[in-house]
Amino acid sequence: MLNWEDPVARFSVKDAGFEPAAPAAMDAGGAVAKVMAVPDSALVEAVGRLMPSNTREAADLDNGEAHGLTGLEQVEFGARRLAVDDKRMINCRADVNQLVPFKYKWAWQKYLDACANHWMPQEINMNADIALWKDPGGLTADERLIIKRNLGFFSTADSLVANNLVLAVYRHITNPECRQYLLRQAFEEALHTHAYQYCVESLGLDEGEVFNTYREVPSVHDKASWAMRFTESLGDPTFHTGTHAADQRLLRDLIAFYVVFEGIFFYVGFVQVLSMGRRNKMVGCAEQFQYIMRDESMHMNFGIDVINQIKIENPHLWAAEFRREIAEIIHTGVELEVAYARDTMPRGVLGLNAAVFEEYLHFIANRRCAQIGLPEQYPGATNPFPWMSEVIDLKKEKNFFETRVTEYQTGGALSWD
Ligand SMILES: [Fe+2]
Ligand SMILES: [Fe+2]
Repeated sequence: MLNWEDPVARFSVKDAGFEPAAPAAMDAGGAVAKVMAVPDSALVEAVGRLMPSNTREAADLDNGEAHGLTGLEQVEFGARRLAVDDKRMINCRADVNQLVPFKYKWAWQKYLDACANHWMPQEINMNADIALWKDPGGLTADERLIIKRNLGFFSTADSLVANNLVLAVYRHITNPECRQYLLRQAFEEALHTHAYQYCVESLGLDEGEVFNTYREVPSVHDKASWAMRFTESLGDPTFHTGTHAADQRLLRDLIAFYVVFEGIFFYVGFVQVLSMGRRNKMVGCAEQFQYIMRDESMHMNFGIDVINQIKIENPHLWAAEFRREIAEIIHTGVELEVAYARDTMPRGVLGLNAAVFEEYLHFIANRRCAQIGLPEQYPGATNPFPWMSEVIDLKKEKNFFETRVTEYQTGGALSWD
C-alpha cells in the first residue's frame, strides 16, 4: 500500500522536453505514435503518463480543461489500450470505465473486505432493547437521552455522507477501483441509515423528533451545518478539478468528510452506545452500532489512503499554508464534538463525562493527523477507552454481546425464514 511517505515521481511535459502536438495534427493513434518515436525509454514512460489516450482528450487538454474523465464520454473505437500507468486518482484522462488493470490494489482489497463484512440491520435481535425501553425503571433519563441524541445525530448524518459520496465526491475520483469501493461505501451508508431507522421503529420513538434532531438540537445542527460547506462546492455541477485551487478544495473536502466527519464526529456516539452495551443495556442498538463502527473504520481508512495517494501524485497541493488550514479544520471538528459530548451527557453517566471525551477526542485527532501526515495537535493525549480498538475488530469479539455469530462471509450464509 502506498502512503504519503513514499517517494514521489515528479514528471511534467516541460521536464520531459516534450510538447503535445496541436490537436489538428493528431489522429486517434497519432498521440501514441509520437510518444513511441521518442527514443529514451524513461522519457517514453514519463510522457506516456501524461499523454491522453485519444484525440478527444488531447483536444480537451489543449483547451485548458485538465479535469478528469467522468466515464460518460463517448467510447472511441480503436483508441489505444489502457495501461496501469495511465491511471491517476484525480484529473485522470484514461478510461474510468475499465476496472482492470488495477493500479491501487489496496482499494480493490478494501472493496472485497467490505463485501465480506456484509450485514443487515433486521438480522439483529432488538427484543431486549424493546423490553428495557418500555420498562419505566429500565433506564435513567440520562441513558435515554444518550440513545435519542445519537439516533437523532446518526439518522441524518449517514444520509449526509451518502449524498456527499454520490453527488459530490464520486465524480472527481477518476479511478475505477476506488469508485468500486465508493459504490460499496454508498450502499453501506444506506444500510446505516436503515439501521438507525430500524432502532427508532423498534423502540417506538417519535420519528419526527428523532429525524429533526439536526434541525432542532444545536450541538447536532452545528456538526451537520459545518459539514455542508465541505460538500456544496464539490456538488456544484460547474465545479471541476484541474487547477491548483480546485484540487486543494477537493483534498480539503475529502479530509473534512473522511477524517473529521467519519473519523471524529462519530466517535462520541460510538463510545456512548457501546458503553451501554458493555453494561448489558440496549444490546441490540449496541450491536447495530458495532457493525456500523466496523464499516466506518474502513471508510475512514479508505479515505485516508485516497487522500495520501492524491498527495503523492500532487505534492504541490500539500503546502504549508494548506496544512495549517487542515489543522484548523481538525481543531474545529474536535471542538464541535466536545460540545456534542457535553450536550449528550450533561451530568455524566456510565462513568463517562465530557472531560473524559475531550481527552479521547484529542487522542483520536492526533492519530488522524499522523495518518495524513500532520504533526500531533494535542501532545500527550492518552486513550481513556482502550477497549474501543478491540471492539472495532469483531473477530476478537464473537461473543461480545452473547448474540449469534457476528461475522458474515457470504450472502449464502444468511437465513431467509
Ligand atoms: Fe455510515
Ligand atoms: Fe461511512
